[in-house]
Amino acid sequence: MSNSLFRTKNIDKIVAEGSDDSHGGGLKRVLTVKDLTFFGIAAILGAGSFSSLGGAVFNGGPGVIVLFIITGIACAFTAFCYSDFASRIPVAGSAYTYAYASFGEVFAWIIGWALIMEYSIGNIYVAYSWSDYFTSFLERMNVHLPAYLTTSYMEAKHAVAAGTSNEELQSAWNQSPVIAGLRFIIDLPALIINVLITYLVYRGVKESRNFSNLMVILKLGVVFLIILVGGYLVLNNGLTSNWIPENEEGVKSFMPNGFSGVMAAVAGVFFAYIGFDAVSVLAEESKNPQRDLPKGMIYSLVICTVIYILLTLVLTGAVHYQKFENVGDPLAFIFEKENLNVGWMQLLVAVCAVVAMTSVLLVFQMGQPRIWMSMSRDGLLPSVFQKIHPQYKTPSFSTIVTGLVVGVPILFTDKTFVLDFTSIATLFAFVLVCAGVLLLPRKAKEQGKFHLPFISSKYIFPILIMVSMALLHHFSKNYFADILKFDVDATQLTYNISAICFWTISLLLAVGAFIKNWSLIPLMGLVTCLYLLTGMTAMNWAWFGGWLLLGLVVYLFYGYKKSKLA
Ligand code: ALA
Repeated sequence: MSNSLFRTKNIDKIVAEGSDDSHGGGLKRVLTVKDLTFFGIAAILGAGSFSSLGGAVFNGGPGVIVLFIITGIACAFTAFCYSDFASRIPVAGSAYTYAYASFGEVFAWIIGWALIMEYSIGNIYVAYSWSDYFTSFLERMNVHLPAYLTTSYMEAKHAVAAGTSNEELQSAWNQSPVIAGLRFIIDLPALIINVLITYLVYRGVKESRNFSNLMVILKLGVVFLIILVGGYLVLNNGLTSNWIPENEEGVKSFMPNGFSGVMAAVAGVFFAYIGFDAVSVLAEESKNPQRDLPKGMIYSLVICTVIYILLTLVLTGAVHYQKFENVGDPLAFIFEKENLNVGWMQLLVAVCAVVAMTSVLLVFQMGQPRIWMSMSRDGLLPSVFQKIHPQYKTPSFSTIVTGLVVGVPILFTDKTFVLDFTSIATLFAFVLVCAGVLLLPRKAKEQGKFHLPFISSKYIFPILIMVSMALLHHFSKNYFADILKFDVDATQLTYNISAICFWTISLLLAVGAFIKNWSLIPLMGLVTCLYLLTGMTAMNWAWFGGWLLLGLVVYLFYGYKKSKLA
């Protein structure tokens, strides 16, 4: 059995199946590099910058820029790996299909299972954030909805139990009607936007593409305006001292809560980057996937990275980092009366946020059905998941199931939970993609196709690890002694265990690089993503572990037996 768990799919066979129209009529090949780049930006720029950035800045202060740079680098290495895979295997399915060709079936299934977190559960966070901005937009238009119709049940419940001073959450709880002993609290805008997006995706990729491109142009325009107006005011009002703020102890620092404060923001910051990989699921709708997919991914990633760094600078310059506690709309917040005081920007940002998040929802809601379609082709999911609508040429059944997987949990989860869950699962998928590229045989460069340049890691990687360890020891004398302590509180213990695992794996990889002469780019992708995983909490690991275990059970009882390779 253990052999068949790791059975791999032949790359030529995967490609042949992907271009074979017998799978229900095939998808329309209409997307160009520009469309793919726009899809990337549509997926990346959304709730991460408009919503979770506030919490990230509150934790890490201006120093969170460092985390944006580290995460950007990790994502860039990973994008190269996705690009390499996408140019070898230009079919829908993303990391799932790539794992099938490199690690084998059980890993492919696990990735497909983890990607449900990225695509569907991530969209729950975006839908909640969409609802926050939409509601505040309505408020500015003097349309007031009762708080119990715009709040998630769990958020209100947890906040009230913790004695929140937030009036909106209190009123959501206190004024909600009680039906059969249960408080009726529901985030209606989040549910409605999910239904609308599902309908749009069901109707077809071309319609969605036009809609998405328009939204991307609009949101890029407003983001640049935020950077220009905010940046000008930070410089003109002499606010640059906020970049080295005082912390609670009165010490001035770029990282007021230390590096651990910065790392506490990892889930929020990483979430902001998720999305460039979604481009790869459009392989079967792209005109020239081998050339265009890598370009689309890398262009969109570079553009968004620059935007994030500038946005963080504006945000942390405009307002002292401590003021971002519980601020869900940080980009509008900096223009409020007591901050930069630009009323028209507040309204514009609220509108832009709604647009930005709509495009994120659209891209992920398109991605999920396409991954399930690939899994169904391989027999790991029932064949109905690959059913393509005769008229609209979209995976109709999978699209509806995606709508349900996003919509139903909106009723009983909250933002923090889905944010953490999405980030850990996506990082895990990235780790496997980078490791997968390490396992693939090298290929010769072909004209017109992306080619991952081979840089030998034999000496560079071991030297990099040694130098990093020496620098850490130099700048933080007790770092290694501290991570070996086990009589610490639970949060620190989780970090210590993660850090020990990280350095052990890094040292093993250094030995492997020296012996096997691996390619440097995927190796760097692997190690940087592993590093980001050290910022996850014990609770994140527990939930994620449980989810993987459940996935394994489903695989053993269904996919393992029904697989086409069985
Ligand atoms: N990166 C996407 C967002 O921030 C998921 O909304």
